[in-house]
Amino acid sequence: MKTSRRDFIRLAGATGLAWTLPAYVSAAEETPVLRLGVGADLHHDIVPDGAVRLAALIAASKEMRAHAVVQLGDFCQPIAANLPLLKQWREAGLTQIDVLGNHDMDGGSTPENTAKWMGLQSRYSTQVLAGYRLIILDGNERRKDIQVKGYARAISDEQLDWLKRTLALDTLPVVVFCHQGLDGIDGGIVNAAQVRTVLEDANRSAGGARIRLVLTGHHHLDYLVQVGGIPYLQVNSFSYYWTDKKSAGGRFPAEVEQRYPYLKQVLVYDQPLFAQVELTSTGGKVLGRKAEFVGGYGPAQAQIPLTTSGHAVTPFISDRKW
Ligand SMILES: [Fe+2]
Repeated sequence: MKTSRRDFIRLAGATGLAWTLPAYVSAAEETPVLRLGVGADLHHDIVPDGAVRLAALIAASKEMRAHAVVQLGDFCQPIAANLPLLKQWREAGLTQIDVLGNHDMDGGSTPENTAKWMGLQSRYSTQVLAGYRLIILDGNERRKDIQVKGYARAISDEQLDWLKRTLALDTLPVVVFCHQGLDGIDGGIVNAAQVRTVLEDANRSAGGARIRLVLTGHHHLDYLVQVGGIPYLQVNSFSYYWTDKKSAGGRFPAEVEQRYPYLKQVLVYDQPLFAQVELTSTGGKVLGRKAEFVGGYGPAQAQIPLTTSGHAVTPFISDRKW
């Protein structure tokens, strides 16, 4: 006869062996819990304090006893000058999930070469963690049937087939990671609808909400939307919101602006932003972080739209529950 932990506790109690399990152990058995520390779009090459921002995510992830710490892409260029940042990240002492962002190939790299530089086995991958199947996609592919100007932002048929095969491996609850938006947002994955169809089919086959969460970055926005019964969480950037206006100097010392010239045009967050995510079998919650725009220079001051695709440009990640 298989004795469950609950039975064992009852038996142990009956025989006078009175001891108490930590609350999280019994809770985890009855409801699989997945805790993730999640940062997106660090853009170490654009801001002067990327290492400090990354350290804040690592510390918070340890504090929450995260099963993994995640970076959702646009981490840094794969160049020798960024090896100290990569070392800092790899020495975090936590299980790590890396997603390839479009800017991780800046300077002429390819997704394959950046993956290698970061020490990743492959551009897209899967692993099982705390009873959840985690699926990491590479959104930096091109398709012949949909032409895209600028950065590649598609999922190939080959990767879609891999996704279907991966979902067929088991019936575990699933969390999907991708740099670019998959909810249909402008500038996201161009064939996001095809990916959503695969995910929604997996839900249907499982007879319920098997796809528990899709996490994306890239857009430097803060929102949660439900599409086809699946929650899509957009995690704001660690660091800033992009603008094309190049005239907002003077918020940082001149030598810093000289070394990091894009600081003159981006709306910089004065504190690192990241999300502490907890999933259970019934839903999830996010503990976000709040910042201010450095120098009070936000979208109104930069005279750019206050919203993008209907989502406010904000220097924070909201607390959420669903
Ligand atoms: Fe990006």
